[in-house]
Amino acid sequence: MGRVDGKVAFITGAARGMGRSHALRLAEEGADIIAIDVCADTRICAYPMATEADLSKTVSQVEALDRRIVSSVVDVRDLEGMRKAVDEGVATLGRLDIVVANAGIDTLQTWAEITPQIWQDTIDVNLTGVWNTCAATIPSLISAGGGSIIITSSTAGLKGLPFNTPYVAAKFGVVGIAKSLANELAQHRIRVNTVHPTGTDTDMVRGLGGIAGIQEAGAHLVGLFENSLPVELMDPVDVSHGVLWLASDESRYTTGLCLTVDAGNTIRLAGRLFFLAHHDAGVDGDGESGHVLGVVRGQPGHRGTHFPGLQEATLVDGEHRLERADEQGRLRAVPGEKSGTGLVGGQRRRDRTRVYGIHADSVLGKLLGQYPR
Ligand SMILES: NC(=O)c1ccc[n+]([C@@H]2O[C@H](COP(=O)([O-])OP(=O)(O)OC[C@H]3O[C@@H](n4cnc5c(N)ncnc54)[C@H](O)[C@@H]3O)[C@@H](O)[C@H]2O)c1
Repeated sequence: MGRVDGKVAFITGAARGMGRSHALRLAEEGADIIAIDVCADTRICAYPMATEADLSKTVSQVEALDRRIVSSVVDVRDLEGMRKAVDEGVATLGRLDIVVANAGIDTLQTWAEITPQIWQDTIDVNLTGVWNTCAATIPSLISAGGGSIIITSSTAGLKGLPFNTPYVAAKFGVVGIAKSLANELAQHRIRVNTVHPTGTDTDMVRGLGGIAGIQEAGAHLVGLFENSLPVELMDPVDVSHGVLWLASDESRYTTGLCLTVDAGNTIRLAGRLFFLAHHDAGVDGDGESGHVLGVVRGQPGHRGTHFPGLQEATLVDGEHRLERADEQGRLRAVPGEKSGTGLVGGQRRRDRTRVYGIHADSVLGKLLGQYPR
C-alpha cells in the first residue's frame, strides 16, 4: 500500500525540476496528479523556463507508474486559469487532497541592479502565485474534508541571502501565507506547511551559474551559501521525500511547520558570518597582497573551497593540518587527522599565503582571541 494511496495532488511548476520529482514521488506512493506549468519564458530570468515537451515528459513518467495525471499550461499569476485547471483536474480525478505550490523563478543581482520589473515579476510569481495556488485549491480541499498544502520556500525564506532580495522577500512572504492559513484552515482539517530546500540540482540553479559570481562579488559572503553536511547540491528527490511526508497522513498533526531540507545550511549561519566579517576587516588590499576566505571541510580526502594562488595553509587551532591538494589551490585535510568542518580565512602575500582557521566546534571567542590583526 502506498503512503498517499487514493489521494489526488495538484502541483505547480510540474514540468521539470523539483515539481516533476514531487509528481513522480507522490505517484510512486499511489497519488494521482494534476500538473500545471507555465511552459513559457520570463522577461527577467537568465535561464529558460520549462517547455510543453517537458510537461509531456512528466505526464508520461507518471503514467508509466500506472497513475492518472491531468496536465495543463497555466501561469500561477492567472487566478482564473488556475481555478479552471483545478476544476478540470478534480472533475476528471474525483477529488483533491494535496497541493504543492512549487513554481518559482529567481534572478541574481545586487540591490542596485533590481529593476521595478525584476521586483514585480518575482513577487508576482513567487508570492502572489503561491497565494493564487491556495485560493484556487482550498474550496476543493474543504469539499474533500481536509488536506495538505505544501508551499516551497527556501533556506532564503528563513535567513537573508545577498543578491536576490525580491526572491528572498517572496520566500519569507510565503511563510506568512502558510502560518496564517494553517490557523484559519485547521477547523477544516487542512494543514499548511512550508519546505525550505538548500541548493538543489535543477535547471534553476544551473541557469543561475552557481555561486561563482557571488565569490567574485564578495568572497566573504560565500559562507552564507555553504551547507553543514558535505554536499554542494542536493537532488530534487531529497526534497520530494519531505514533501511526501507532509502530504501523507504520517504528518496528520503537523501544521504551520517550516520543514528544512537543507543539509544544515540554516543552522550554520551565525558563527560563519561573524568570523568572516571580523576577518575581512583586518585584511590588506594592495596589489601584492590580498585575502582568501572560505570554508574547508576537514574530512580526510574531501576537497574544499577553491583558493586561487594558495601556497600553504595552517589551521591555528592545532587540531587540523591542511595541505595544498592541486594546482587550483584546493585544500584537503591530511588523512588520519581529526575530521570535522573548519572555517578559514587568510592573507596572500607575494609568494606565500597564510590561512588561519578554526574547527567548527570550537568557541567563537577563542577564535577571535587568536585571530591576528
Ligand atoms: N533549486 C534550488 O536550489 C532551490 C532551492 C530552494 C528553493 N527552490 C524553489 O524550488 C521551487 C522549484 O524550483 P526548481 O529548482 O525545480 O526550478 P526549475 O526552474 O527547474 O522549475 C521551476 C518550474 O516552475 C515553472 N514556472 C515558472 N514560472 C511559472 C509560472 N508563472 N507559472 C507556472 N509555472 C511556472 C517553470 O517552468 C519550471 O518548470 C521554486 O519555488 C524554487 O524557488 C529551489
